[in-house]
Amino acid sequence: MVNVLKTDNIEQNYKYMLKTIELGLEDENDITANLSNISAIINSYMDDLNWVGFYILKEKDLVLGPFQGNPACVRIKPGKGVCYAAVDRKEAVLVPNIHEFPGHIACDSATNSELVVPIFKNKKIWGVIDLDSPKLNRFTEIEEKYIIEIAELISAKGAL
Ligand code: SME
Repeated sequence: MVNVLKTDNIEQNYKYMLKTIELGLEDENDITANLSNISAIINSYMDDLNWVGFYILKEKDLVLGPFQGNPACVRIKPGKGVCYAAVDRKEAVLVPNIHEFPGHIACDSATNSELVVPIFKNKKIWGVIDLDSPKLNRFTEIEEKYIIEIAELISAKGAL
């Protein structure tokens, strides 16, 4: 069982989130199991999300991986959406208002802001972590920092 420890201190919660993910990765090698629990752990620790999960780069497409939320777009083609912008730029893309992001893919009309962070394997993009929120300006450099740390933990695991 994975306990969720939440306090009134957002950064403290994010530190617990990171530790929980780190311990889970130490215990298990299966990538589907790990990504499934990681999406659930992020969803438990971060408020105001309507979707969080993974897209994995297969050939040139981003293909849906484990997630929490409503059913989502299964396959994202090159150059499309915020997710592919993170692949093309090879860095995190934080979108305070997705209605101002040309080419945004609206999997859920409730979404207003988004954060996408790439996961690397041997210096190449392996996939992305995607977070959506119904709130405008939901994500700041604090969320970006912790999601990048999660992406680095997944990369360091080497089980991709
Ligand atoms: N909005 C994303 C597509 C994925 S869904 O949000 C789950 C994008 O523009 O890439």
